[in-house]
Amino acid sequence: MSRKIRGQPKVLIVDDEPDLLELLELTLSRMGLDTSRAENVTEAIRLLDKESFDLCLTDMRLPDGDGLRVVEHINQKGLDVPVAVITAYGSAENAVAALKAGAFDYLAKPVALEQLRALVKQALKVPEKPQPTSSYQLLGESPAMMQVRSLIERLAKSQAPVFINGESGSGKELAARMIHSGGPRAELPFIAVNCGAIPENLMESEFFGYRKGSFTGAEADRDGFFQAANGGTLFLDEVADLPLAMQVKLLRTIQEKKVRKVGSTQEEPVDVRIVSATHKKLATLVESGEFRQDLYYRLHVIELAMPSLREMREDIPLIAHAILAKLSRGTPAQLDPEALSALERYPFPGNVRELENILERGLSLAGDPLRITSDDLHLTPIADEAEAALNAGEKWPLQDYLDRVERMAINEALEKTRYNRTAAAKLLGITFRAMRYRMERLGIK
Ligand SMILES: Nc1ncnc2c1ncn2[C@@H]1O[C@H](COP(=O)(O)OP(=O)(O)OP(=O)(O)O)[C@@H](O)[C@H]1O
Ligand SMILES: [Mg+2]
Repeated sequence: MSRKIRGQPKVLIVDDEPDLLELLELTLSRMGLDTSRAENVTEAIRLLDKESFDLCLTDMRLPDGDGLRVVEHINQKGLDVPVAVITAYGSAENAVAALKAGAFDYLAKPVALEQLRALVKQALKVPEKPQPTSSYQLLGESPAMMQVRSLIERLAKSQAPVFINGESGSGKELAARMIHSGGPRAELPFIAVNCGAIPENLMESEFFGYRKGSFTGAEADRDGFFQAANGGTLFLDEVADLPLAMQVKLLRTIQEKKVRKVGSTQEEPVDVRIVSATHKKLATLVESGEFRQDLYYRLHVIELAMPSLREMREDIPLIAHAILAKLSRGTPAQLDPEALSALERYPFPGNVRELENILERGLSLAGDPLRITSDDLHLTPIADEAEAALNAGEKWPLQDYLDRVERMAINEALEKTRYNRTAAAKLLGITFRAMRYRMERLGIK
């Protein structure tokens, strides 16, 4: 059933405050839109079921219930209507609940007209499904990956900050690019910044730019990441690695939507959507005081958790074949059944990136360029054995089982850090002393 009748786009406004209603209707009609109004949840649902709309804006507090019910109705019925909510000033939980229920964005009261117009334009211009022309695709048909893709699709339409968490190599950057390229900012820049890779003394000028002469070597005015990303998306990768001093400045910029170049007295407005990512547990860093709580709340409006490859094992064959197809010029190489089953058992601490590396190496080592055997893969025996022991072993006595888990984690960390015990301890989130003690107890050499 096609619900859309082309012509003037129609917007359903659900609100019971006469002033706000008037403001919304006036603004939307000036944009050439047709509006209908409902003053409560029941009426809204009745209209949604009867007519077709291109957009729905709903207040959260309505005389006969919660605006969330309108959002839920639209989603449960699978109606093809983007919906945004209007929330009371400072009620961030409401906004988050609405986004989780399927709203594509929210407006905070008092409603800023500029923001309202931007939101409406976006909702009406964004295609219903992200175009498959986007070259960034997270592969996988497992429930975990399907869920991630559907969340990404919704997040792409919203302007809310997204925080992506996931193990290294699990596709965080790819997800960030999909969020950008599936949304209204797609044609504008996507700037990825590795927050851990910028020397601390250069951070401010890298992020905000500088004026000519503001320090030795500043021979001309230069834009920073914020200006470069203007209108588009700024991806703050490894955001946990931002030094505290920089966190303060970043928070200010995000709140005020203005930047000041180093050495300048003037501020310039910037409009960027922030997507951030880290493989670390940011909440833990907030607890230990290494990450500012206020910035955390700003960035962490919506969390996108990337599954590890272990949590989507059934996708290993599919992803492996896609990687092999990409690596080969003509006919893609095939994996021996044995090689495939070895991959399916392997724990992949480095996730899809590790799978890519393993296959690339396998391909270059294979005697027959069209056939990869399990020997060609050179899967690290330690991890493989540990994994096998984990799966094969009994879960009791509990202490033995826990020891095996611990041994596996430590071995993996050691391997990943090329047997640097200090770095491995850091990765595991324990002190060097605790690391030494545990290695001794478990007899790890
Ligand atoms: N589900 C997937 N389907 C296809 N390719 C994927 C998938 N997940 C990750 N990749 C690929 O794996 C590689 C690593 O992904 P990406 O750089 O996005 O990971 P990351 O989480 O940012 O890793 P890190 O924490 O190490 O920065 C990329 O080449 C990416 O294309
Ligand atoms: Mg990354």
